[in-house]
This record gives sequence, structure tokens and C-alpha cells, in this order.
Amino acid sequence: MSVAIVGGGIIGLAIAWRLVQRGVDVTVLDDGETGAWHVAAGMLHPGGESAFEGPALGVLMNRSAGLWPDFAAGLGVDVGYDGTGTLGLALTADDVAERARWWARQKLPVLRPSELREREPALSPRIRAGVHAPGERQVDPRRVVAALRDRLAGRIVAKRVESLDEVQAGTVVVAAGCGTARLTGLPIRPVKGQVLRLRGEPGLLRHVLDATVDGREVYLVPRADGEIVVGATQEERTDATVTAGGVLDLLRAAVDLVPQLAEHELAETTVGHRPGTPDNAPLLGRLDDRVVVAAGHHRNGVLLAPVTAELIAGLVADGVADPLLAEFAPGRFR
Ligand code: GLY
Repeated sequence: MSVAIVGGGIIGLAIAWRLVQRGVDVTVLDDGETGAWHVAAGMLHPGGESAFEGPALGVLMNRSAGLWPDFAAGLGVDVGYDGTGTLGLALTADDVAERARWWARQKLPVLRPSELREREPALSPRIRAGVHAPGERQVDPRRVVAALRDRLAGRIVAKRVESLDEVQAGTVVVAAGCGTARLTGLPIRPVKGQVLRLRGEPGLLRHVLDATVDGREVYLVPRADGEIVVGATQEERTDATVTAGGVLDLLRAAVDLVPQLAEHELAETTVGHRPGTPDNAPLLGRLDDRVVVAAGHHRNGVLLAPVTAELIAGLVADGVADPLLAEFAPGRFR
């Protein structure tokens, strides 16, 4: 069996890796552009990234979170998989009201500011309340993609695919993020996210911080080497401009949460486009006899990479359609 995967991002590479492990002859066609994974902070946040996720997506996210430990270990190198957990935070009384329902849904006890500062001493004394989500993890998506690329050496071909007709393979898996819309006509829209990388002495923060700050959502993801990823705007826009307003909002929220960050280096400003679908859930499964789709992961591409790889590899290599796939059928909006 020959399989071509269109898209060399974290989803396409993860599928390719699982297919190779099943003995399938795989080629990944990669247009050389860095995808959303390059910008992503790598929060593994099965509790949900928004209030709008349906139950099936919750099941998919939890299943993938459970696969991440083996997935990360199987890559054989340090990919920054870390289990310190997340602190959910609210700065003002209005922010607490905003977060309260979400925290209740996660069944997490609300912690006082002193308890939060015991866990994370650099937090601002202005923070009103928060929760500790011990089951949440993080990983460095750039390291994951580098490790996957190593595993797939010799199978990745530099090529921008203009039409699926030009791809020579019995089965084509389209895992091209936002580019999937151009190749298949499926409804995937780019959702712009601006993300910053700050750099300072390691050890300032231990947990991922996920906060509402004066009505704005922000997250801070600390890496062991002192990098802190600050994200993200969410804009229904296609441009790739880093804007003054976007950077200002992210930095203001970050420094309101952790005042010492004002002394950090602003090392990187980036823009990515999340592949969003009409219901913000991915498109997973067969489009026709030859074409399989794995795209539209919106805010959850890194979290969902292992489960997507298992489901799509099972479908393509073993002909097994896991019942969960029915919820994410690529043709559901027709
Ligand atoms: N997963 C975080 C984001 O999309 O901003």
C-alpha cells in the first residue's frame, strides 16, 4: 500500500509515523512553510480551550491527553513534555465571575491568592482567585516536529501540492491545516493568533498559567530553558501582521499576572493561523475512496496529534473506522 500525506505539520507527521510503524510505505509532501505548530505554545489542555466544545470533542481531547505520555516517550528525545500542571487564574472580581462556571465544570476547588502564591511565588498579589489543574501538561511543539522529522528521515519530500490529482498514491491523507480548504473545498477558515516568546533566567515560573485579565484571555507557558511563551490573540483575520495592539494586549496581561516579566527579553513575535471549522471540531475520516482528511484542529492541534494519528492510521492501514470518527466526518457540513 502506498500513502501520500499532504502536509508536514504536527498532524501529518504524527500520522506518517504511526503508519510507518504499521509497515505502510508513506511519503509526506511538505510545502516548506511553517504551520500553526511553529507558533503554538503546546498546552495540553483537555479541560477545553473554550466554552463551545461539544461532548464528542471532549472525549477526543481526553483520549489524546491519555496517549501523550507514550507518544512523547516513543519519540526517544526530550520534547519538553512536562506535568507540573496548570494554574487557572482570574485577576479581577469580574474575571472571577467569568471563570467560575468553567472551573465548576472542571470540578476544581477555587484557591485563595495566598495558596496560589505558595505554588507560584512570582504571581502578582492583585490576583483574586484561581485553580490548580494537576492533570494538564505541556510539550514543546517545535521539538516534537523536529523529533518526528528525524523519525521520518527520507520520507519527507519538499513539494507544494496544487491539486490532489497530481499526487501519485493509492491513498492521499490531507493534513494541510488551513491549506486543506484549497485542496478539498472543505470549510476551514484561518483564525489568526499572535504569540510572543519572552526570555529570562529559568525558574521564574513552574506552571502553565491560563488566565482572564481584565476580560482578556492569556496564557503563559514556561519552558525549562527560561523561555516563556505568551499567547494568544484570536482574530478572524487572514493577514500575518504582528500588530502593536496585539503585542500590547499580550504583554500587559502577562506583566499584570507576573510583574517580573517586564524585565524579560521580548525574543520573538509570531503569527499563526489556526484551522477553524464551522463547529470548531476537526475533520477526520474518509472524503472518498482515495482521499482521507485530518485537518481543522483549530486551537487543539498539538493536543489532538496522538489521537488523530491513531484514528487515521487505523483507518488507512487496518481499514478500521473507530466509532468516534463518525462525530468528526469531513462531509458533515454538506
Ligand atoms: N491552543 C492555544 C491557542 O490556540 O491559542
